[in-house]
Amino acid sequence: MKYINKSLFIENVKIEDIAKKFNTPIYCYSYKQLKENIINFKKNFKSFSPLICFAIKSNTNVNLIKEIRKFGLGADVVSMGELMVALKAGVNPKKIVFSGVGKTSSEISYAIDKNILLINAESKSEINEIERIAKSKNKIIDIGIRLNPNTDAKTLKQISTGKKENKFGVDEKTFFDLVNYSKLSKNINLKCLSVHIGSQILDYRPYEKMLKVLDKIIKKSNYKFKFIDLGGGMGISYEKNNKKLNYQKYNIAIKKFLKNHNSKIIFEPGRSIVGNTGSLLSKIIYIKENSKKNFIILDAAMNDLMRPALYGANHRTLPVIKTGQTSKKTYEFVGPICESTDKFTTLKKFQKLKEKDLIVMCDVGAYGVSLSSNYNVRPKPTEILIKGSKINVIKKRQKLEDLI
Ligand code: LLP
Repeated sequence: MKYINKSLFIENVKIEDIAKKFNTPIYCYSYKQLKENIINFKKNFKSFSPLICFAIKSNTNVNLIKEIRKFGLGADVVSMGELMVALKAGVNPKKIVFSGVGKTSSEISYAIDKNILLINAESKSEINEIERIAKSKNKIIDIGIRLNPNTDAKTLKQISTGKKENKFGVDEKTFFDLVNYSKLSKNINLKCLSVHIGSQILDYRPYEKMLKVLDKIIKKSNYKFKFIDLGGGMGISYEKNNKKLNYQKYNIAIKKFLKNHNSKIIFEPGRSIVGNTGSLLSKIIYIKENSKKNFIILDAAMNDLMRPALYGANHRTLPVIKTGQTSKKTYEFVGPICESTDKFTTLKKFQKLKEKDLIVMCDVGAYGVSLSSNYNVRPKPTEILIKGSKINVIKKRQKLEDLI
């Protein structure tokens, strides 16, 4: 995004024109940014050419995933719905991994029928269920076991998944038991060790620690894993001053690990692929100045973008037209929903705003629409993909009659 003559653009498209043509709120993605992210991600790890499985949960738009798939990426899915989305987008089943702590029998059955690369199991009971279903279909299924490496990802508590108090994966002892169990099974073939320690990770050291744990455990298990799935979690800069994940250091740690283990690395990135590709464009409905606080009431709300209400996340907010006039007041940017947590940010010395002005919230490409809901019977917004001067509607705004 950039300002040209004080007007904000995404690639060659004037954001003001988007609002006129498609109305607000609306999610806008930049193809150029998406392409750049994928190319950079690949470049960072090119010496061992990993299989990159895009974490569908971060953005479930079929048309966007189609574009991602064209760069050769696979998919990480966590439900039957996500698996259907990935297949619909044309993702090669042999590049799909299925994660999650609670896969149901019908989900496992569907995944087996679709011949995906791996089902990453997270408990003994799940392995037994995969075995039972595989046996009934007369098949041998490739699986992974998700290890809980008890590694602190040094990120928000709500999005940490690799500590022993978290529900994810199995502990070291169970892991060894399950490796031994799998060796004897007739219907499963253990191919992968998987981990995922958390999301929005900006420090490479937790990854380094996690790899040391894996190294030790694999040596101790004396088992040859065809794949090591390191999960996703690579963080992005939401604030201007946010530090960046040192990919070089992470890459070095993996290369060191691979000297002892001849396995194919799988990644499951979500946020780092799509996070900064998306912006949420919104119009100011009203401005209300109460005795204690001043409110900018937007037409976007927590149902459209849940991250601030759920995690206290902050998304950079920009005016669509720059006026150069700064307000002396502090404003809280809120949505129209009947919840006090329906607020996005509080800004001091922001540009002076008036009703009907447009603003954008940045970096909402990951866990934006995918976390959205129909709370207050609010239709989900339009989604558009911008390529140069071209605008493709990749999802239409929901119609009220579809919700009622
Ligand atoms: N693999 C597994 C098994 C995961 O659980 C996740 C994310 C990913 C991969 C992708 O992680 P990423 O590369 O996107 O960090 N709603 C939260 C994020 C929750 C992440 C859940 N798991 C947010 O809005 O920040």
